[in-house]
Amino acid sequence: MHLRKMWPRYLLWFAQEHVDFRHAEMQSLLSMFNIPIRYVEKPCEVKPYWVVEVPSEECVRKLASRSVLLKNCIELWSRAKTEAQLHQNLKRAMQNSTDQWITPKSENGVCDQDVCPSGLIEACRPVDKSFKVEVETFCKHFSMKEKVEKIEKFDYLAFEGPVKLKKPDTVLSYIEFYGLEPNNVPDEPEDLFFGRWVADGQREVIQQHSLKKRTFIGNTSMDPALALLAANQAQLQDGDIALDPFVGSGSLLVAAAHFGAYVCGTDIDFLMLHGRTRPTRVGQKVRKKEESIRANMVQYGYGARFLDVVVSDSSRPLWRRGRAPAMDALLTDPPYGIREPTERVGIERESYSLPAAQRAQHVPAKLPYALAQLYRDLLAAAAALLAPGRRLVAWYPLLRAEYSPEQLPSHPCLELVANSEQVLSRLTARRLLTYEKIREPDGDEAADGGAHNFREKYFNSGEETRRARKERRARELAAYLRQKEIQNAQLT
Ligand SMILES: C[S@@+](CC[C@H](N)C(=O)[O-])C[C@H]1O[C@@H](n2cnc3c(N)ncnc32)[C@H](O)[C@@H]1O
Repeated sequence: MHLRKMWPRYLLWFAQEHVDFRHAEMQSLLSMFNIPIRYVEKPCEVKPYWVVEVPSEECVRKLASRSVLLKNCIELWSRAKTEAQLHQNLKRAMQNSTDQWITPKSENGVCDQDVCPSGLIEACRPVDKSFKVEVETFCKHFSMKEKVEKIEKFDYLAFEGPVKLKKPDTVLSYIEFYGLEPNNVPDEPEDLFFGRWVADGQREVIQQHSLKKRTFIGNTSMDPALALLAANQAQLQDGDIALDPFVGSGSLLVAAAHFGAYVCGTDIDFLMLHGRTRPTRVGQKVRKKEESIRANMVQYGYGARFLDVVVSDSSRPLWRRGRAPAMDALLTDPPYGIREPTERVGIERESYSLPAAQRAQHVPAKLPYALAQLYRDLLAAAAALLAPGRRLVAWYPLLRAEYSPEQLPSHPCLELVANSEQVLSRLTARRLLTYEKIREPDGDEAADGGAHNFREKYFNSGEETRRARKERRARELAAYLRQKEIQNAQLT
């Protein structure tokens, strides 16, 4: 047994979704806020909690002020594998008058017999401090009566202040974890935690940004949780400038502006940027006049952070050489060629020049824009536009069976620092790639757009498009009804 001067210990409890993004989001926020971290227990990839130590409560508050995947942070007082052990740790903690944790050497790498300093408990005990105890059970439901019985077992803590259910001074949190298999729930919890609630993460912003209530959406508008995750990967902070070169309906700009960035974007689609594409909402026949990216920004109170959007082809540089403003982040979801075309301005005829009389009304012809070329241009733009140390965050579609990290787009001035997968279907996925600019380009260094022909592979893979699925289901329904009709006719 040894005494060790420790940083405060916290339980970080995560939402059990987008699990592959959890580590990347935390790493991004830790490096943005320059917070060192010690893992008391090695994080398990599938379980929704980490036990960590950071230098101060301020650090976990900062993480919670930004994290989309974090549900809450709890100052840990006891953690055990059985209920009896949890209470024993707490009772021993009440005798631990040092300001240090007592940490018996653990055989299993789990801090399930560690004893916290009594000062943590004493600080919440005074007669003028109200409190309440909340019981959370993961993967098992308990009635209110059963929860009250669990709470009463903590009576020995002898808190002197009044119990207050609304806004108490202290919220004590008791969590029982019954594993991850709803069809195979054990009788007893496999992990138990007790401590003082410190802060909630940003889960409620996902609801606030819900696409259901957003003024303007398109058919590829990004889910708010994923857009906020992308903005966290971009490490955006107050006053930064962020650009989305394939802006669409501007979902990524909403997330970037939420974290304080000034935002701008470009898109090749004139109708999209003018809110005049075909409506996406079920039952809506025509777009409302007020639908626009700016209207979305105003809806959420970010109007002052909206710089503007410009109709422009991302395959061509928007700024003159040497005149581009330094961007703090590029974040984007390029077209994959499935639900929207991948196009660039161009014409197949060589040395074609437009007669002067036609120029004013001319709508430029478009050519297919191969994804490898698109990512090459995107990484080159990032290397040129980003301020040193800042980030490009981009979605990248692929067939899951063919994924290999070596095939991802690369650029000599950009380092790939995070790479998380969102599975879309049995065959397809997309990855959120985060690159950091490590140096200025030296001459015309070329990017590698990756070994990529997702669109062709997608359509050859047998993956069903929405329309094909709709048509198949209609055919199946018609066949079923015909069958029923025949059966009914035979019966009568
Ligand atoms: C996947 S969508 C972006 C969706 C967007 N994140 C949103 O939330 O609505 C890709 C966008 O890229 C645009 N696009 C396609 N080719 C382009 C090009 N060459 N230059 C700029 N934008 C292009 C499309 O018009 C489309 O709006």
